[in-house]
Amino acid sequence: VHQSITDYISNTIRTIPDFPKKGIQFKDITTLLQDKRALELTSYMLAQPFRNRSVDFVVGLESRGFLFGTNLAQDLNAGFVPVRKPGKLPSKTLSEMYALEYGEDHVEIHQDAIFKGAKVIIHDDLIATGGTASAASKLIKRLGGEIVGYSFIIELSFLNGRDQLVQNVPIESIVIE
Ligand code: PRP
Ligand code: MG
Repeated sequence: VHQSITDYISNTIRTIPDFPKKGIQFKDITTLLQDKRALELTSYMLAQPFRNRSVDFVVGLESRGFLFGTNLAQDLNAGFVPVRKPGKLPSKTLSEMYALEYGEDHVEIHQDAIFKGAKVIIHDDLIATGGTASAASKLIKRLGGEIVGYSFIIELSFLNGRDQLVQNVPIESIVIE
């Protein structure tokens, strides 16, 4: 039954060739979000692997990790914490660099966002190279958090992004390409 749900969700995701630049097949979830059944099913499928697990925070990665992140936190009886792009968070932050195809970027978290020993799930819409989720993992570890899972809607498995993540932790992706 989960396979047909996965197929339904997958069919609502639109692929845009050569966006934002040539050679990139962009996975557009706006078409998933506008489909009320896919919206509900995605929310259900994201929570499913982590139900009855003890989770203190879902950390959502700007910007598309915010769309389902707060909802996932509510479903898991956890709080929500944003990891943001530079200069967006107003209080004291920690910063981690990650490599892009050309150059680098940073992500930030509030220093007081999670307590030591907190059980954390990292959520984003998509994992590609794993650079973003890996940088977020480092932020959580620097704050003393324990990563107990990763949650993605889409995993581009041919890019091996999961190799960049904390090992021996469940990585749950609804659609794997
Ligand atoms: C995309 C996507 C993930 C990240 C995955 O975000 O939403 O956050 O890239 O790539 P990686 O695994 O290679 O790091 P993007 O930076 O395009 O920003 P957005 O979510 O704000 O649109
Ligand atoms: Mg993103």
